[in-house]
Amino acid sequence: MLNESIDALNVVHNGIYVDATFGGGGHSKKILEKLKKGKLYAFDKDIDSNKNFLKDDRFKLFISDYKYISEYLKTEDVSKIDGLIADLGISSYQIDKRERGFSYQKDYELDMRMNQNSKLSAIDVVNSYNVDELNRVFKLYGDFNNPSKITSKILEHRKKNKIKTTVQLARVVTDNQNNDSINLNKFLSRVFQAVRIEVNDELNALKSLLISSTNMLKESARLVIISYHSAEDRIVKNWFKKGDFDGTLKKDFYGNKKLRLKEINKKVITPDLDEIKNNSRSRSAKMRVAFKT
Ligand SMILES: C[S@@+](CC[C@H](N)C(=O)[O-])C[C@H]1O[C@@H](n2cnc3c(N)ncnc32)[C@H](O)[C@@H]1O
Repeated sequence: MLNESIDALNVVHNGIYVDATFGGGGHSKKILEKLKKGKLYAFDKDIDSNKNFLKDDRFKLFISDYKYISEYLKTEDVSKIDGLIADLGISSYQIDKRERGFSYQKDYELDMRMNQNSKLSAIDVVNSYNVDELNRVFKLYGDFNNPSKITSKILEHRKKNKIKTTVQLARVVTDNQNNDSINLNKFLSRVFQAVRIEVNDELNALKSLLISSTNMLKESARLVIISYHSAEDRIVKNWFKKGDFDGTLKKDFYGNKKLRLKEINKKVITPDLDEIKNNSRSRSAKMRVAFKT
């Protein structure tokens, strides 16, 4: 959905844009192709993304959490923007760089921090969270209806040994079954996704991003958000449709709708079959586009 998402941003030649999730720079490059005199500010909290820095006078990269966009843009004397795109979650680079500990395909220390300087890592979550905390993580971020099965396996193992590596975690939650069936992989992806979302506080960061970007958008300017997880998409959907994160419609004193954004497409946009064939990670992508009213 690369081209589709950039088209949805509706880039004006001399506008000021934000790519909140720079990563490998795919979206940023496309935005720069459409810009003439404008400016593109990119954010990524992973210092490795600096390797993909784009040498272009119109481009500036901040190695920071996107929840701080308004503070960073203030230092550039920017208070209003013509559009923002966010392609949420983890990059293929981060998954493939096995020593970052996001994947159970190779045995590395459980880490999963997108910002390598942040304090909390996956080892802390798995080894120090209590029953309720682990149940919350697996239920909300892994979509497990019965998270206590996973939690109890982790707690049982912790009585004797710390869970230090990616493969150890995979073995603990699957009872050492050495079976690489599709279902087992799907199960493990959800377990690892849940821990990753907790480690990086992804949902709170998304809420902050939606609030600050909505404040900064000029009239008619667009917000394009691509999410990969149901809880993320729910937050974006509620914010766009109701102006609130819990889905309660915002109304003014007289009971009129008080929405600051209007959706371009009423329905969520998903990739076509060709894209899913070429890039299996895109199968869970959901794109929503709105403009400032
Ligand atoms: C799906 S990738 C983006 C890929 C990018 N659009 C491209 O074309 O290469 C998501 C990126 O967002 C970054 N990221 C995730 N959460 C972030 C946050 N709260 N603040 C800043 N960057 C974040 C990750 O480090 C990762 O590099």
